[in-house]
Amino acid sequence: MDIREIKPEDIKRVFEIEFSSFNAPYDPLILNYLYEVHRKTFLVAYENDVIGYIIGIIDRLEGHIISLAVDEDFRRKKVGTLLVKRLLEIFKEKGVNKVKLEVRKRNTKAQKLYKKLGFFEAKELPMYYENGEDGILMMKYLEGKV
Ligand SMILES: CC(C)(COP(=O)(O)OP(=O)(O)OC[C@H]1O[C@@H](n2cnc3c(N)ncnc32)[C@H](O)[C@@H]1OP(=O)(O)O)[C@@H](O)C(=O)NCCC(=O)NCCS
Repeated sequence: MDIREIKPEDIKRVFEIEFSSFNAPYDPLILNYLYEVHRKTFLVAYENDVIGYIIGIIDRLEGHIISLAVDEDFRRKKVGTLLVKRLLEIFKEKGVNKVKLEVRKRNTKAQKLYKKLGFFEAKELPMYYENGEDGILMMKYLEGKV
């Protein structure tokens, strides 16, 4: 498996994985915008085809993980972990020292993944999502080795 920057031909599979992974997926227009503007921190995991992706953005030296998803058939094989690790490395190369993300409170499997990578719960986000679901703000400081 290879982890690399997204290419134009990958975007269709990213839409598919996003739509099959989330009840409220990002609008393709937003994904397209992220692809256009934040390509260096939009990564895909590739094994014959795109099997997962992560989207990050950097705002004033703060990293933000916008989306992470792995094709259902390839889950629990550390693809998600490797995508986050690679993005954290890129963030670090670009001088980022603090990373944040929002996750649904009931998405305990994603929280577990992030906690294993050193993220901590920074804040509860009541009714954060459009359907009224609560979220959690998770953060990690990047010092030393990722
Ligand atoms: C969350 C997601 C990205 C995880 O990807 P993945 O490649 O399967 O994750 P990994 O194999 O790297 O798992 C790392 C750790 O996370 C935890 N984890 C991941 N999936 C889990 C599950 N289904 N149940 C319990 N723990 C889980 C485990 O601690 C796991 O380590 P282990 O396998 O050694 O026990 C994937 O399940 C997914 O795409 N879900 C739908 C979209 C989503 O929720 N994205 C996150 C939005 S914030």
